[in-house]
Amino acid sequence: MKICSTIREARAAYGAALIRGRLGLVPTMGALHQGHLSLVRSAHSQCHVVAVSIFVNPTQFGPTEDLSKYPRQFERDCRLLEQEGVDLLFAPSVEEIYPRANEAVTWIVVEGLSEKLDGRSRPGHFQGVTTIVAKLFNIIQPEAAFFGQKDAAQLAIIRRMVRDLNLPVEIVACPIVREPDGLAMSSRNAYLSREERVHALVLHEALLHVERRFQAGVRTAAALISAAKEVFVRQPHVLLDYCEIVHPDTLDPVERISQETLVAVAAYVGSTRLIDNLLLNP
Ligand code: PAJ
Repeated sequence: MKICSTIREARAAYGAALIRGRLGLVPTMGALHQGHLSLVRSAHSQCHVVAVSIFVNPTQFGPTEDLSKYPRQFERDCRLLEQEGVDLLFAPSVEEIYPRANEAVTWIVVEGLSEKLDGRSRPGHFQGVTTIVAKLFNIIQPEAAFFGQKDAAQLAIIRRMVRDLNLPVEIVACPIVREPDGLAMSSRNAYLSREERVHALVLHEALLHVERRFQAGVRTAAALISAAKEVFVRQPHVLLDYCEIVHPDTLDPVERISQETLVAVAAYVGSTRLIDNLLLNP
């Protein structure tokens, strides 16, 4: 595995990779788990050459968020990626990506979509995500890029950016990977105490309850949201941020489910904010 920390090195490696075929990129912030590795495996199944980026992107963290304590485990991440047969790891410093941080004036903003779901609770978050993802696409120039369904709003926003800007990258969505008890894998799960880890199961339980009500024939969003909230009120240690039923591309609320629909939840378990979601198909 070639490890590049500068844009110049990564571009040179890209030149060499081109000769060997389709290049797939898996963008990450590190502290890798099986969810990330499932994206790497999908990339391998569809591409000749696989690149992974690890960059804890400061511009997507709000001033009161967890940038400084975000888990960083670079040596371990390298070992895992090596075992997965990754060809290229791009792991730049903050200075390499934002050399004149305070002077940056160019941003990619997917208007409207970026203010929905997590964008409402985390102002500026998605502007940071789209800008770094566009930069990574320009640096690595992949033909395909792999994203998890876990971050459903992020996926919708990146798809829209690629469409609106005619970026020559195929966006591939990969399913949510869960712990055996149902908790969606996340680098932020590392923050949870033993008790909080148990409390956190309420996110998945609420989604399963919605799915059961849906399978029983309930089609109105209001009734399904109430079903989810019933589960959350039984877990007083978890504070629900939002539970919304939306179109998976526009992220606009739907009233009645007649096509594929996204049920998305976000909640605070102690001070840790977790998200999860489910796609309903009538
Ligand atoms: P990060 O949270 O590290 O996630 C990297 C990728 O892994 C994202 O596409 C995310 O959806 C996916 N992922 C995380 N947990 C998953 C799970 N349990 N199952 C399946 N996929 C999962 O998302 C980011 O980083 C950043 O915003 C980034 C896109 C890298 C831009 O900085």
